[in-house]
Amino acid sequence: MQDYIKGLNERQKEAVLHIQGPIMIIAGAGSGKTKVLTTRIAHLMASGIDSFNILALTFTNKAAREMKERVEHILGNSEARNLYIGTFHSVFARILRAEAHRIGYPNNFTIYDTDDAKSVVKAVINEMHLDDKLYKPATVYNRISSAKNALVSPADYATDYYVQQEDIRANRPAIAKIYDAYCKRCFKNGAMDFDDLLLKFYELLKTNAESLSKYQHKFKYILIDEYQDTNPAQYEVIKLLGQCMKMFAWWATMRRVFTVSAALPSRIFCSSRKIMMK
Ligand SMILES: Nc1ncnc2c1ncn2[C@@H]1O[C@H](COP(=O)(O)OP(=O)(O)OP(=O)(O)O)[C@@H](O)[C@H]1O
Ligand SMILES: [Mg+2]
Repeated sequence: MQDYIKGLNERQKEAVLHIQGPIMIIAGAGSGKTKVLTTRIAHLMASGIDSFNILALTFTNKAAREMKERVEHILGNSEARNLYIGTFHSVFARILRAEAHRIGYPNNFTIYDTDDAKSVVKAVINEMHLDDKLYKPATVYNRISSAKNALVSPADYATDYYVQQEDIRANRPAIAKIYDAYCKRCFKNGAMDFDDLLLKFYELLKTNAESLSKYQHKFKYILIDEYQDTNPAQYEVIKLLGQCMKMFAWWATMRRVFTVSAALPSRIFCSSRKIMMK
């Protein structure tokens, strides 16, 4: 038996050794989810799977760093080098650096941090002669950010009855126009904000069959830690990438360690969405 398997409990071993087909783990806090995920990467590679084909995602920089360190600890630095391992934002930014031209951005696009993005929102608000006490840049930016993470485009935002009613009730009916102008400004500036790193990668996969096929074939093994935290944009990207692949995702809200495998990734995603709603 490989060294890395020793010391795992039976359920952990079962999850690590499962290679083909989608699998979702439902487990509680501190039960060894990240340990299993990182050990599973080592096991995939020991089973002859190229590191180039493995994508491991998580949400915070801290969690990504921890995941990387743990994999390096098991595999050594050089073996781990080619893995795509990191936060959704950092991994998608890395891919967009090679692909952004396909959706009209320069590959050396600027990344706006939250402060940069809020300054652009503020400039747009001022240019539209709106009262920035009512249209507070931070509030408007948060509204735009939520729309982007729910994959609601400016056109959808402007025509969604409930969204519009909310803005009217809050006395901010011009947010749709600000959102549209903000997106156009970012595009003109060759810039993406943090939310765009998800959204534009989604757009790339959705509108460019060649890129979709390329990344579907590249990322044959997708591992997601803290899967319960995925927002709609992340979920749709993963669903697109995982259409014909071997998925591996974590669900971390329940107490027991529990593994589920199913024939189709879509069924996993369907069932995971149902669990999330409970
Ligand atoms: N089978 C095991 N034998 C020994 N130590 C273990 C085992 N499984 C997990 N641990 C240890 O338990 C601790 C928690 O593990 P881990 O961080 O992987 O859990 P987690 O479920 O990801 O936690 P969180 O809910 O905080 O994300 C770590 O220190 C890990 O090394
Ligand atoms: Mg963890």
